Amino acid sequence: MSAPSSLTVHLPDEHATENLARQLAPLLDGRTAGVPAGGRIHLSGELGAGKTAFTRALLRECGIKGRIKSPSYALLESYKVFNLYFYHFDFYRFSDPREWLDAGFRDLLRDDAVVLIEWPEKAEGLLSPPDLQISLAYADQGRDATLTAYTARGQLWLNAIVPNPAPPSPAAP
Ligand SMILES: Nc1ncnc2c1ncn2[C@@H]1O[C@H](COP(=O)(O)OP(=O)(O)O)[C@@H](O)[C@H]1O
Ligand SMILES: [Mg+2]
Repeated sequence: MSAPSSLTVHLPDEHATENLARQLAPLLDGRTAGVPAGGRIHLSGELGAGKTAFTRALLRECGIKGRIKSPSYALLESYKVFNLYFYHFDFYRFSDPREWLDAGFRDLLRDDAVVLIEWPEKAEGLLSPPDLQISLAYADQGRDATLTAYTARGQLWLNAIVPNPAPPSPAAP
């Protein structure tokens, strides 16, 4: 794959964050013809940027029922819908996740599972690039999301995103 390509979208409110997740969900869970289920998304951004909100909306859209907890304490929450596994990690509390990864969690980073990782930078050097990196940043009352594809699969997902229409530019003085 050539240089990673990226796209920045403004998410004015939580609904926009959820809408972005809803656009990606059918590409990850096998509902889209020609796109095999599975793939890995890394989510970066400060506390409260919306990493868990995004993940919750995505898991919900993929058919996960019941409470979707943030894995900030449990480190991992996993789900299964039919034959598809979903792994939601949060590395926030790790200063050295090496031991933990070596304990077998690395085996969960499979191509045929949907893997969502919050705070991947806490596992710097231990994770290969994801299919898609989503960086969330505070922007006015909302957030900016920068999506970067590192694999052909991620590029396919990125191509399917319909960015929010640009807000009207202010009238010239
Ligand atoms: N685009 C957005 N604009 C404004 N608020 C948002 C947006 N997306 C999510 N939020 C809100 O920001 C907070 C994000 O919290 P959370 O998802 O737990 O953050 P993180 O997992 O990144 O620490 C939630 O209160 C959510 O309602
Ligand atoms: Mg979180």
